[in-house]
Amino acid sequence: MENNSLILGRKYFGKPENIGNVISKEEAFLLLNDWVKNEKLKAHMIQVAHLMRRFAESKNYSNEVCHKWYLAGLLHDADWDQWPDQHCRKIIEELESRNIDPEIIRAIASHGPRYFGVEPESEIDKMLYAFDELSGFVHAYSLMRPTAYEGMEVKGVKKRLKDKTFAAQVSREDIADACNRAQVSLENLIDFVIIHQIDALGETLQ
Ligand SMILES: [Fe+2]
Repeated sequence: MENNSLILGRKYFGKPENIGNVISKEEAFLLLNDWVKNEKLKAHMIQVAHLMRRFAESKNYSNEVCHKWYLAGLLHDADWDQWPDQHCRKIIEELESRNIDPEIIRAIASHGPRYFGVEPESEIDKMLYAFDELSGFVHAYSLMRPTAYEGMEVKGVKKRLKDKTFAAQVSREDIADACNRAQVSLENLIDFVIIHQIDALGETLQ
């Protein structure tokens, strides 16, 4: 997706008066089931959503805030399946038309600064950027291990990151950049993903 046409060319997303406006998990799943036919992509968004919620919970944020983090993760790639050339413009416009909380929309808009031209600024922005690439990478690693997530260790993931031929589409540069911006160590982040991602495996969009 090295594509300049994805640059959003905007600085502001949503409206400040919509802070606190969310949709339910059920409504979000309706949108995803409508827009996303690719099961792997759905599974990826569920995993990222789960990590986002768990991270917010680990900071003792309120239920409302944790739900916002969850929604940002759940919807961040919603338009990638059907409209890759309009990613993530399409989902941003959809959420703006629904008067959704601007923090959710901004997090989605900044989850790939190199592609969308929007810098991750807030904590929710930075963590979505960080979890997005790493979640997919750890999942790819689980698929090649006979015991999947069981017994997975941080050092195993780090070793795979050094192997440039493994999951080559995952940008190591973006992972390092995201950790740096979020001020979390790569080791801690990998550890968090291993511990929590497994819980999301049984979750579906039904
Ligand atoms: Fe993603």
